[in-house]
Amino acid sequence: MGKHFLLLLLGFSMSIGFLQALFCYRCDLLNAFGVCLSGRGYCVASQQEDCILKEYYQAGRLVFGYQNCRYICNNMTFFRGTFQMDVKCCRHHDFCNRF
Ligand SMILES: *[C@@H]1O[C@H](CO)[C@@H](O)[C@H](O)[C@H]1NC(C)=O
Repeated sequence: MGKHFLLLLLGFSMSIGFLQALFCYRCDLLNAFGVCLSGRGYCVASQQEDCILKEYYQAGRLVFGYQNCRYICNNMTFFRGTFQMDVKCCRHHDFCNRF
């Protein structure tokens, strides 16, 4: 019951934390073909965060998209003229914000 036990406990709790973590795709700029042009990678969502996928459409065609982890994420669809923005939030599985 010494330092080694504490280290073991710490390692164990860290791996549990790791298992509970939610991974999300991250991309600052997806182009009209869904190809990530900038800021590509992943993020780890905290307990209060969701994975987010934002899609911007013009006349029904994708213009660009965005993926990240987001605190207080709300599903939303916004229309203005022929412009449409969709916000999709999820946490049911890792990388659920796939485009
Ligand atoms: C957002 O929508 C997805 C399905 O499109 C659903 O699984 C999720 O629970 C919704 N999130 C919220 C916060 O309503």
